[in-house]
Amino acid sequence: MNDRSTDTVLAPTIDVHLGSDDASKALREDVTAGLTTQPKELPPKWFYDERGSALFDEITRLDEYYPTEAEREILLQRAPEIIDLVAPETIVELGSGTSDKTKAVLDAARVRGTMRRFVPFDVSEAFLRTSAIDLAERYPGLVVHGVVGDFDHHLPYLPTGDRQLLMLLGGTLGNYRPDDRLAFLSAIASRQSAGDHVLIGIDLVKDVGRLERAYDDASGVTAAFNKNVLHVVNRELQANFDIDRFQHVARFDLENEWIEMLLRSDGEQVVEVSDLNLAVTFSDGELMRTEVSAKFRQPAFEAELSQVGLDPVAWWTDQAGDFAVSLSRQS
Ligand code: AVJ
Repeated sequence: MNDRSTDTVLAPTIDVHLGSDDASKALREDVTAGLTTQPKELPPKWFYDERGSALFDEITRLDEYYPTEAEREILLQRAPEIIDLVAPETIVELGSGTSDKTKAVLDAARVRGTMRRFVPFDVSEAFLRTSAIDLAERYPGLVVHGVVGDFDHHLPYLPTGDRQLLMLLGGTLGNYRPDDRLAFLSAIASRQSAGDHVLIGIDLVKDVGRLERAYDDASGVTAAFNKNVLHVVNRELQANFDIDRFQHVARFDLENEWIEMLLRSDGEQVVEVSDLNLAVTFSDGELMRTEVSAKFRQPAFEAELSQVGLDPVAWWTDQAGDFAVSLSRQS
């Protein structure tokens, strides 16, 4: 064991590639496109303003929402094995948020003594700053290099070189539709060197009742989270969504094997988005999609990894078999 407890705490560095201008431009584009096509659709990344992030945090503590605890169970149990297999010098985490469950992996890497740098990457600058400072203090001597950016534009700004472990946890990959998912996985793989590893957390196909309850909890937190996207559009683009006239819908699509969250218009209504000079009509009962959350099976998922040049190395699930963590290696 390599005891570095006497090392000094290094101040984290944070590169910001996402200005508020970029964010508002992207929001305008997404809302314009999403409200003028049929069926209407708003992308899930706009859930996560401060209130939305807090609501998501609350979701992770709900009885019905099993993925967070299941993934924590796997990481706590398997972290030493993962670190033995990879012996990473740099750990990159995409969509790090508070990096809470990540600590299991970082603790194990610390013991092994190979890790010298941690690179958390997130869209939320506030979350990233807080967690970067926290991690730098927890791991004296560790270089913490945060990157603020979005998965679709800023992967090229991540550092390369070193023996890397890239982590994408929490089931975030599930937000992509199959084509986009493959493109995203391929973008990740193409910036890695042979021998680098990727660790991905994914939710598994299971009983439909449990899946739907996980996205439609009894206390209504997920409903509030879903509707939060309307608050965001109202505030950021001067829109007048009447939030009480949209109902939360979560259902499992058996054919695509994904949960979809939608908002159902209660009555016919016209919504104005002043900043976009847009008036949008919703018919009674019209559904607008706000998220897909894909559920996986091992053979198909590992085939996708292979397609982008990642060789499956290991697959772990929690005791109940609800959630999986997959380790693969760049060929
Ligand atoms: C953060 C995308 C993994 O899909 O389960 C939770 C988001 N949406 N409840 C998921 C979410 C509704 C979550 N991810």
